[in-house]
Amino acid sequence: MRIGVLTGGGDCPGLNGVIRGVVRKGVKEYGYEFVGFRDGWKGPLEGLTMPLNLETTRGILPKGGTILGSSRTNPFKIENGVERIKENLAKMGVDALVAIGGEDTLGVATKLDSLGVKVVGVPKTIDNDLNNTDYTFGFDTSVNIAMEAIDRLHTTAESHHRALVVEVMGRHAGWIALHAGIAGGATAILIPEVKFSVDKVAKWVESRFADGFAPIIVIAEGAIPQDGDMMVKDQTLDSFGHVKLSGIGEWLSQQIEEKTGKETRTVVLGHIQRGGSPTAFDRVLSTRFGVNAITAIHEGDFGKMVALHGTTIARVPLASATTELKLVRPELYAEAEVFFG
Ligand code: F6P
Repeated sequence: MRIGVLTGGGDCPGLNGVIRGVVRKGVKEYGYEFVGFRDGWKGPLEGLTMPLNLETTRGILPKGGTILGSSRTNPFKIENGVERIKENLAKMGVDALVAIGGEDTLGVATKLDSLGVKVVGVPKTIDNDLNNTDYTFGFDTSVNIAMEAIDRLHTTAESHHRALVVEVMGRHAGWIALHAGIAGGATAILIPEVKFSVDKVAKWVESRFADGFAPIIVIAEGAIPQDGDMMVKDQTLDSFGHVKLSGIGEWLSQQIEEKTGKETRTVVLGHIQRGGSPTAFDRVLSTRFGVNAITAIHEGDFGKMVALHGTTIARVPLASATTELKLVRPELYAEAEVFFG
């Protein structure tokens, strides 16, 4: 058997752990050959490949990013995209694909599966918003990066008696904000799932100052004020129809200054949350996902995604992960709200 592997969408710590797990078990236990497709769906679309074997995957577990490269290419938005992928797979003798990605990459995998392409998915995103898996790898690393940033911001904010607004990633789901905010002892956590009141935030800021501490507000990039809309950088959309988010943290800082008279600064963590070495949790999860994905291929269980259910690696239908996003549930947000103000 010849298996193609690709990584699509935003990169994420742990991608190399999956690639290594897939290849190591595939070669050693099943005697498979592998083809590395470069830059997400662009690879099979344009026939862009790299060698994937025991040598090329050695030593990559602690490395961030992906040795295969990534892109947000959507073959369904390109003329004859699907036909070109099918032709290239046949030409290269690729029997099945392991697609490692988030809602967009796995959304494409879901459709390709229904069109006869043999594919198994692996859930990836720092946003942790894929359905039917308890966690995606990459999330733990980005939460730890954001938590460390918040810890550092506490001391500088207190020295200068300032409020600090920390904008973290999370387009539609506030998982990073929620976990990093709880772990970092934030004064408030604002997430896309719950529209926020600027007046309430200003009150929490004042009460934290009154207690003798400097407030840290953690806000997800996709958070929405009660009387406003999501803040976007410009009107352009990527090939999956996503806007570029930007500016909510800075906007909130200005509102806090106006309402409280307290100096307020903004830190946008941006891609720092996606770069660098994965945590131990993400190395273990990505490795387990990798070895279980190749087992699914070996058993001919296509159209499935490997998923974490409790401590077990399960297999779920691809569509069950991509048709709906996994959002922060109200009761989880309520646990965090206890500490606001
Ligand atoms: O989907 C992961 C993610 O990191 C989101 O949190 C963020 O909105 C987006 O990707 C940013 O994408 P890009 O790196 O393409 O700007």
